[in-house]
Amino acid sequence: MAERRVPEHVAVIMDGNGRWAKRRLLPRGAGHRAGMNRMIGLAEHVFDCGIKYCTLFALSTENLSRPREELEGLYSLFREYFPANTARLKEKRIRLRVIGDLSLLPEDIRALIAAGEADTADGTRGTLALAIAYGGRQDILHAVNEAVRRGESVTMQDFSALLFTKDMPDPDLLIRTGKEVRISNFLLWQAAYSELYFTDVLFPDFSDKEFDKALEAYGKRERRYGKV
Ligand code: IPE
Ligand code: IPE
Ligand code: MG
Repeated sequence: MAERRVPEHVAVIMDGNGRWAKRRLLPRGAGHRAGMNRMIGLAEHVFDCGIKYCTLFALSTENLSRPREELEGLYSLFREYFPANTARLKEKRIRLRVIGDLSLLPEDIRALIAAGEADTADGTRGTLALAIAYGGRQDILHAVNEAVRRGESVTMQDFSALLFTKDMPDPDLLIRTGKEVRISNFLLWQAAYSELYFTDVLFPDFSDKEFDKALEAYGKRERRYGKV
């Protein structure tokens, strides 16, 4: 019998905003706005479920090559929503951290991120990691270069501590919304033994109830880690 449990760390690839808008004959930006609205509600629900760590994939390194207009739209939404969302996290005692190559982002966005992280630093209820300008291969390469710079061979544990997700356990459950069945350069090292859950539901429609379905599926999985 599979044992029922709540994951300690859930990671979500939030995909499908563009298609959500397209179905409604709206511009892609409307889908990103709907996704942004859903994101904070989902984050709050995750911690209400007793999960301690949540990583949300919001923008990949590869997404930075999208048309300038779409990127500008995403940055505008970020500027509009981020301060209020950070205040909500602070109120709920959730610590925010942003992972990714922040040097690729506009200066003012970086300043907002730094302020949001500082403002929520004493949150003890859980950690929300927002992956922006994040790539799994870039994460690994960055850690390799750091290990080389130190000039010492590293253990797996040391290596994990060199990744952007340092201090966080590996994700137990990795969810992808929006129908595609791929990892798209998300947490490549960290997801080695994550349970994977794919749903056709587009991210703006990924309700608390849909999230609970993923938790239920996770509860029925038997994690063997290669053992018998
Ligand atoms: C995910 O939605 C959000 C980002 C990657 C910024 P998409 O924008 O990829 O939406 P689809 O896949 O085109 O529907
Ligand atoms: C993955 O979605 C990245 C995020 C959700 C942030 P993409 O839409 O970029 O992935 P592909 O292009 O379908 O692989
Ligand atoms: Mg997509």
